[in-house]
Amino acid sequence: MDFKKKKVNGAIFALLIIVLISGVLILGKDKIFTSGVANNVHLENEKISNNSEELEKLLTIKNDLLMMLVNRNNTLSSDYVPEELVLSEIDFVSYIETRYLAKSTAEAAKAMFEAAKEDGITLLGASGYRSYSVQENLYTSRVINDGQEEADRYTAKPGQSEHQTGLALDILSEDYQDMDDNFDSTEAYAWLKENCYKYGFILRYMKGKENITGFLYEPWHYRYIGNSEVAKDIMDRNLTFEQYIEELDIKIQE
Ligand code: DAL
Ligand code: ZN
Repeated sequence: MDFKKKKVNGAIFALLIIVLISGVLILGKDKIFTSGVANNVHLENEKISNNSEELEKLLTIKNDLLMMLVNRNNTLSSDYVPEELVLSEIDFVSYIETRYLAKSTAEAAKAMFEAAKEDGITLLGASGYRSYSVQENLYTSRVINDGQEEADRYTAKPGQSEHQTGLALDILSEDYQDMDDNFDSTEAYAWLKENCYKYGFILRYMKGKENITGFLYEPWHYRYIGNSEVAKDIMDRNLTFEQYIEELDIKIQE
């Protein structure tokens, strides 16, 4: 009887052990899958949040007023006037057209001109903000002098000039004050090409990209876009502003 009881207890004990081990295995297995699935969800969430962070960053760049694209296909209205126009404190050439600039551009230009000076380069402004009507007069007089086809190669029609944004500045130097292609052989140009991005400026009308920008090469025309990281990217990759904006639009739509 005792022996039989012991045998039954032994069997129950063995059964308990089996149930216990199976339980641990099943729960453990569940745990691995659960954590596996959670990990995937976690990775997926991270991807989505990285993507939305990236998208947000791209949209912030795109929607920044300083990034406005003005060219033959993007025309400003005749009454567009930048919000805060100020008299620029930089030095200008004697035949200066206008020393007004958007406040942000005036401040960045001042910092850039001071930095150039410290490197032994004296930059001079040549032309800042031009109102719609000033651009209209300029364009009309060039059409009268050179004919429309020629004038169109180097002068924007009213509403299509970056100078109306207050964000464009023509820059020459004390040593070279002619607004022509040879400005690109000067130390001032080399300095600008190397350093302008640090102050948020880009070279706007490059050599060999006339078919994209719509204008002849202008080594003196710089455009303030504010974001030095973007400006560096544009200058490093020798992109036109049109190309950068197109790339940005594609990335946003992806
Ligand atoms: N020279 C540039 C293209 C302008 O007229 O704005
Ligand atoms: Zn210009």
